[in-house]
Amino acid sequence: MTSLHFAIFCVFFGPSSCQINCIPETVDETKFSVNVTEHISMKSIDCIVIPHKVTFPRDKVVTPYKKMLFQGDPSNVVDKKVVYDSDKEDSFRIKNLPCGEYDYGFKLEWGCNQTYTFPKRVHVSVLPLATKPTVLVPLLTEERSELICSVPQPCSQGLRVYWKWTKADGQSVVLGDYRYGKLDQWFFGYKDTLRINPTAHHHNTNITCVAEYDNDLTEATVTLNVKFKPKISNDSHCLVKGELLVCVCVSWGNPLPPISWPLENLTAFSVTSLRIAQTVRSTFTVPASEYHNATVKCTSSNERGLAETSIVIHNSEERAEPNTVPGRRKGMDLALPWIAGLCFSLNLAFITALIIHICQRRINKQKEQSKEINTYMSLKKADVEEEYSVISTKPKRNPQV
Ligand SMILES: *[C@@H]1O[C@H](CO)[C@@H](O)[C@H](O)[C@H]1NC(C)=O
Ligand SMILES: *[C@@H]1O[C@H](CO)[C@@H](O)[C@H](O)[C@H]1NC(C)=O
Ligand SMILES: *[C@@H]1O[C@H](CO)[C@@H](O)[C@H](O)[C@H]1NC(C)=O
Ligand SMILES: *[C@@H]1O[C@H](CO)[C@@H](O)[C@H](O)[C@H]1NC(C)=O
Repeated sequence: MTSLHFAIFCVFFGPSSCQINCIPETVDETKFSVNVTEHISMKSIDCIVIPHKVTFPRDKVVTPYKKMLFQGDPSNVVDKKVVYDSDKEDSFRIKNLPCGEYDYGFKLEWGCNQTYTFPKRVHVSVLPLATKPTVLVPLLTEERSELICSVPQPCSQGLRVYWKWTKADGQSVVLGDYRYGKLDQWFFGYKDTLRINPTAHHHNTNITCVAEYDNDLTEATVTLNVKFKPKISNDSHCLVKGELLVCVCVSWGNPLPPISWPLENLTAFSVTSLRIAQTVRSTFTVPASEYHNATVKCTSSNERGLAETSIVIHNSEERAEPNTVPGRRKGMDLALPWIAGLCFSLNLAFITALIIHICQRRINKQKEQSKEINTYMSLKKADVEEEYSVISTKPKRNPQV
């Protein structure tokens, strides 16, 4: 075959057909170099650009030549460019790398599959995403509200944003779930909105906004603070125990809802309140003889509203509480010297056996009165634990009047 025929053959069947005759040239390796940053850190959702500039003997490496980026082994080419004119500065772009450590290198290929691999390597560290989503929560009441979650933008990855509600019992449910395809660099500032109708059951529970990327996941949790109207529990009750009427009212609200009782016209009573989380438990005690109605109204209110209920009074089969007994004895002890003194003075006045009899009648009368006095005394002493609600106590009538 003449050289002319060979040239025609090459034109028709492409340069690869001619490689049989290609003999790689020897090159001076010192004339090759690459100028590049050797250590690069990036986040899992980022893309990186590796700017570089290669230098080579222009008389040997003819255009067009191929410039390749490989990861790890030179045979593992991840990106390739065909360069037609120059050796000016250029860059490769890397994206969607899972967290870890990677090494990249460059190689050139020209002429008859002739290659040169630069010995310099670029070390890339891909770090987990440290930025958490930002969740904006408005002031929550029992009205429809919107929560907004801003998530970090991936450079070029799929993104799924969802909301997870962790209920008081620890169980989780997914509330909103949005998936996006591959997002590219032009896309910035992603926000997702969740609409909820908060209830008392949402109070103190957690909502988590999760951003799931192809190579990473990040989430942020907020604890909800829902302001809600008081709700009076059906555990509230009123019982007559001996001479006392004891009422318990339990109310639940946020902010804590103080409880009030119908105290008008009452002179002796006690009110104690206890607070457990968002619940107020108020106990109201009054002598049964002072209260003349079949129901007791319990009222509870906070800035969100008011709740009230009429609690029906039930009679308890229980006897008067045993702790009233020592008080009664003490009262009698106090009364006895007075009675003795009276009898003594009467004796001194030379009163006859008839008068002694009258004295005996007075003792009996005094004993009866002391019982009544004691009920009031024990009520007056009952501690008014005003841990939460503030209830004013009225000045009490002197029981001896
Ligand atoms: C040159 O490279 C091509 C692919 O790039 C390959 O198919 C061919 O076999 C190579 N030729 C030689 C002689 O190595
Ligand atoms: C809500 O999150 C907080 C911390 O953010 C945690 O202490 C609490 O136990 C969580 N509550 C529930 C119900 O998961
Ligand atoms: C109290 O209310 C709950 C539901 O809120 C109900 O299950 C329960 O039976 C009620 N108890 C009484 C004593 O009415
Ligand atoms: C008894 O309770 C009812 C309902 O709460 C109220 O209307 C009425 O005035 C009360 N009567 C007395 C004597 O307190």
